[in-house]
Amino acid sequence: MKKVVITGSNGLLGQKLVKLFLSKAGYEIYALSRGPNRLHDKKGYTYINIDLSDDRTLDHCLSEIGPDLIIHTAAMTNVDACELDQVLCDKMNVELVRHLTSFCKKHQVRLIHLSTDFIFDGTKGDIYKEEDKPNPVNHYGMSKLKSETVIREAGIDHAILRTILVYGLVDGNDRSNIVLWVKKSLEDKKHINVVTDQLRMPTLVDDLAEACWLAVKHDAKGVYHVSSSELMSIYEIALAVADVFGLDKKYIHPVGTEALSLPAKRPWSTGFDLNKSVKEINLPSYSFIERLQVFKDQVDKL
Ligand SMILES: NC(=O)c1ccc[n+]([C@@H]2O[C@H](COP(=O)([O-])OP(=O)(O)OC[C@H]3O[C@@H](n4cnc5c(N)ncnc54)[C@H](OP(=O)(O)O)[C@@H]3O)[C@@H](O)[C@H]2O)c1
Repeated sequence: MKKVVITGSNGLLGQKLVKLFLSKAGYEIYALSRGPNRLHDKKGYTYINIDLSDDRTLDHCLSEIGPDLIIHTAAMTNVDACELDQVLCDKMNVELVRHLTSFCKKHQVRLIHLSTDFIFDGTKGDIYKEEDKPNPVNHYGMSKLKSETVIREAGIDHAILRTILVYGLVDGNDRSNIVLWVKKSLEDKKHINVVTDQLRMPTLVDDLAEACWLAVKHDAKGVYHVSSSELMSIYEIALAVADVFGLDKKYIHPVGTEALSLPAKRPWSTGFDLNKSVKEINLPSYSFIERLQVFKDQVDKL
């Protein structure tokens, strides 16, 4: 049995990963997150309520488990909150990673880490390859870039999966994501302003969890891009949500990013070149629309 630790198991990706690893043979799963376990299914794994930013508690916990693999999904993920509290952001997104990395080095543990398209400035005018030069435009992106550097420089066995605008269903979590937000707003007949000048390749959380599994299975090393395959504006994404769920588009209003006056800057266009991931870990290539239909099927079954 291999022991796998999944950090941030209460989050969007963490929950899916716990479920996915439960369906695979040969893993003893330790799910680490703060507060009560939000997953409805509580059997077949060990949940540990922990503040991951407390180094001593984390060390003690990991030493007790003795993991073979850590999949680190926990992070401060609210981009504007990161801009407003940069100290907390660095503590969670950089210092925690530094700490995990030294644990992994000392005990020869493999680390799968999650990173973001926001390490890029979005001005390339084309999709990004793994080796393209990063240049974050906000503090969140800067913190995740630093986390990548910390891991790379530590020389541990690792893979870093960068992803884009993740959406999906989670148990007991009132935190929203782009698709749920648009769907709920339109159902509530609420007018929403949606930006036309940010281009993304949104990622269904199930596909991201599968990519983490593929990275484990293929013993992937280095950086990999994971997203859907077509670049769309967030406005176009919202229109597609309305189409697939049969909701009224008249509540969706196109605006420019500046009109929202958000604390953190956003990169313009951050699509990924997926060739390396397709070749090396057999990442399936899906369009957003195709996966949105899968997401709708999940919602319909609730
Ligand atoms: N979501 C996206 O669009 C996106 C895009 C690009 C990259 N990523 C990266 O992908 C990874 C997973 O993202 P996600 O969307 O699954 O994030 P998420 O839903 O925000 O989940 C993160 C989880 O970590 C937990 N956590 C945060 N600080 C903690 C602490 N000090 N102690 C214990 N638990 C803590 C959170 O707890 P609470 O629930 O209590 O806050 C949350 O359950 C992150 O590394 C993120 O940077 C995400």
